[in-house]
Amino acid sequence: MTKTPYNIKNINQGENKINSIKTIIPRHIAIVMDGNGRWAKAKHRPRLFGHHQGVETVRNIIKMCNSIGVECLTLFAFSSENWNRPKEEVNGLMKLFMMALEKEAKSLAKNGVRLEFIGDRSAFSTSLQKKIAQVEALTASGEGLHLIIAANYGGRWDILQATQKMMQQVINEKSVTIDESAINRLVSTAHLPDPDLFIRTGGERRISNFLLWQLAYTELYFTDVLWPDFTRDELQLAIDDFSNRQRRFGMTGEQIKDKKNA
Ligand code: IPE
Ligand code: IPE
Ligand code: MG
Repeated sequence: MTKTPYNIKNINQGENKINSIKTIIPRHIAIVMDGNGRWAKAKHRPRLFGHHQGVETVRNIIKMCNSIGVECLTLFAFSSENWNRPKEEVNGLMKLFMMALEKEAKSLAKNGVRLEFIGDRSAFSTSLQKKIAQVEALTASGEGLHLIIAANYGGRWDILQATQKMMQQVINEKSVTIDESAINRLVSTAHLPDPDLFIRTGGERRISNFLLWQLAYTELYFTDVLWPDFTRDELQLAIDDFSNRQRRFGMTGEQIKDKKNA
């Protein structure tokens, strides 16, 4: 299904300065926030210092997305493979998630941001699981930005858990139609539009098991800027780049132009 991006003319620009009227605001932006470790290393500081600074970037990017009318922002915070990191780093990250949730919950709610986690949260400590559920409940009625944090998330896990649910349906209901929309209804982003724009900071050109199913027709944007240095201006550059793309969804460029002019 083709998703129609919002036109800048139709949204409240808020505090953000957008000078080109041709800017197209993606409905859904998905970001692999990479480069915290290298950022810290360059400053001769421990990796966790980079992760702490990364949270500051998260705060700024959420604010900007909320003010320019992005509907959904999905942030890759911890992959199912990140458990393989040194124990000290994993523990530090878990503490940081807890701290950030405690610190930011009220202001997210105040600003109408609806927070939701995707991924297998059963691997987290009971206290972190409780905190996640608490903040999700506190922000559930938010009507602004829908913020999705992918934590202990893997794209293959997502497809696998959808398949398992489908198998269960087959067992329970005997006749089940297995098609694309059936999978769409069972992946963890079932209630969201597919991402329009994927951003990866930190210089690597890979997906690293992020939203494999959902990125089928997403525009990909890679930047060498490390996540702690990813400013609002950097996000604006990504959105400008996105605005200049022609999304064809398998059609020809002429067909797309004809559709626009129709
Ligand atoms: C991304 O930054 C954050 C997480 C994976 C939690 P990295 O920690 O991967 O930073 P680099 O890639 O080592 O610089
Ligand atoms: C991807 O970054 C995961 C997150 C940003 C949470 P990584 O730094 O873990 O990715 P790889 O291992 O370099 O592919
Ligand atoms: Mg990395």
